[in-house]
Amino acid sequence: MTHSRPSVVVAPSILAADISRLGQEVDDVVAAGADWLHVDVMDGAFVPPITFGANVVHALKARTKTFLDVHLMVVEPERHFHSFQQAGADRLIIHQETCPHLYRSLSEIRSLGMKNGVAINPGTPLESIVDVLEVCDLVLIMSVNPGWGGQPFITSSLGKIRELKNKLESMKLHDVTIEVDGGINAETGAQCVKAGATALVAGSSIFGSSDRRKAIAELRA
Ligand code: DX5
Ligand code: ZN
Repeated sequence: MTHSRPSVVVAPSILAADISRLGQEVDDVVAAGADWLHVDVMDGAFVPPITFGANVVHALKARTKTFLDVHLMVVEPERHFHSFQQAGADRLIIHQETCPHLYRSLSEIRSLGMKNGVAINPGTPLESIVDVLEVCDLVLIMSVNPGWGGQPFITSSLGKIRELKNKLESMKLHDVTIEVDGGINAETGAQCVKAGATALVAGSSIFGSSDRRKAIAELRA
């Protein structure tokens, strides 16, 4: 049987996994159809909690061939590019709010052989990243304030997704992925895809489901 590339990428966020059994949790969502694994790195400074570092990315890389989508919610992320690259990250997503030299930082991630991504918080306008879109592989629209899983989806994100889709079309940047993160379930995910999203991050709606295969399939549909 041949598989065509799914039109919507589903990336379970391991933040919502049972961390005491992380390896099995990862195997389980990969078997259930995860396209990527989303790794939420938090530093206790940009956002209050502290979560995972490059050592966890290294352990995941040894466990799975699945694409590792690493979301850096940290101040001065460029200090860590090299260690995450060494650990096996496939993509590093950095926040506009943490990077005064965003164009350079995005270019540096590419020059280290990884895909890049730029994230914006719900309170950050799209306008603030228009000038770096030409060096982006992915834009992450945060649909919650970063820091915790399980928060409700902020509906105004949909307008931002539509605005980004139009902007990318007008700039002829057809290969930039539009990813959404926060409060994504079957219902909000469908709204995001309708607005133009091509990748969905979901933590609690996948790991909290008794049927993870179904939860992933519903997001993809
Ligand atoms: C929030 C993280 C998200 C989080 C999403 O700061 O960036 O990736 O894990 O969790 P849910 O899907 O539960 O909103
Ligand atoms: Zn995330």
